[in-house]
Amino acid sequence: MKLAVIPGDGIGPEVVAEGLKVLTGVIPQVEISTYDLGASRWHRTGELLPDSVLRELRGHDAILLGAVGDPTVPAGILERGLLLRIRFELDHHVNLRPARLYPGVTGPLAGDQSIDLVVVREGTEGPYAGAGGLLRKDSPHEIATEVSVNTYFGVERVVRNAFERANRRARKHLTLVHKTNVLAYSGQLWSRVVEEVSMEYPDVAVAYCHIDAAMIYLVTDPGRFDVIVTDNLFGDIITDLAAAVSGGIGLAASGNLDVSRTNPSMFEPVHGSAPDIAGTGTADPTATVLSIALLLDHLGMPDSARRVEAAIAFDLATRQPGSVGRTQAVGDRLAALASS
Ligand code: NAI
Ligand code: MG
Repeated sequence: MKLAVIPGDGIGPEVVAEGLKVLTGVIPQVEISTYDLGASRWHRTGELLPDSVLRELRGHDAILLGAVGDPTVPAGILERGLLLRIRFELDHHVNLRPARLYPGVTGPLAGDQSIDLVVVREGTEGPYAGAGGLLRKDSPHEIATEVSVNTYFGVERVVRNAFERANRRARKHLTLVHKTNVLAYSGQLWSRVVEEVSMEYPDVAVAYCHIDAAMIYLVTDPGRFDVIVTDNLFGDIITDLAAAVSGGIGLAASGNLDVSRTNPSMFEPVHGSAPDIAGTGTADPTATVLSIALLLDHLGMPDSARRVEAAIAFDLATRQPGSVGRTQAVGDRLAALASS
């Protein structure tokens, strides 16, 4: 396996080091190339994502990213110039974010064994496509438009992937989350595509939920969800709440997938570079290790992925209440559990 690693800034390198410990324990034959991208490179050289680096990234089987960002970089520069650019250039159209509440994990819904869902968020369209602009800027007549782009092609491939995932899961249940009553045009397209694709998956039960109601149910009745399919913006919101009710930021993993496998997919913890705790050795690397499990699944190594997940489940169930432990100690424990 040829893996490109972008450790990034802040706690990024710290959690990535532990993730790689676990990965190389499970799959010894990994060929790793490390790329220096993020806030520190931007400060040093003004570069965000040189074309030569993008070309090299394409030559790998997958990418592992820690986190990028620093308070000294103006908002938006790294997000647009690096993270979103990678997602668009490598056509990461499925943003995959599982949320499962493991036994032993604290949080607002601790102990709720029914939380085991996966959000399939569209990753390259919606309001994030960059269609829009400002007219008559800095005048009382200023106009700002932010157009949500929804193509049949873009919606269909994401909906299809969500059905495939639902069909492989025990519950075989899929919920479309949207706001079809108000966002009627895109809502129609999404609903129609879900209906169409559902014909090919007769074993999958289909439900629909408005985004606002979904936010209530995620807290009051999360067990109703199995696979959620949704657009880019709603998916961004849903996955933060799903993370909050399933153990928080230290446990939220994600995959930015090109499910056509033309380009390498990218796996990363949902959290950022956490400058407030960087260097203290207290960052929880579990979200990064869970992202490694997603990576192994994507590359067709489900047995290894299950071993990594089982290691995490065991570790979470046996952690000292209220204490994560040192970053390296968690990594050592998970690596030992996963490779034993
Ligand atoms: P953040 O996720 O970095 O931190 C939020 C809070 O959660 C902080 O109190 C932090 O200490 C804590 N936290 C985060 N990850 C943790 C972990 N693994 N273990 C224990 N505690 C953890 O979000 P914030 O503070 O809004 O952003 C910090 C920087 O990260 C910004 O520059 C932001 O732009 C960037 N960022 C980068 C992302 C990425 O690379 N994909 C995603 C989100 C933010
Ligand atoms: Mg977010």
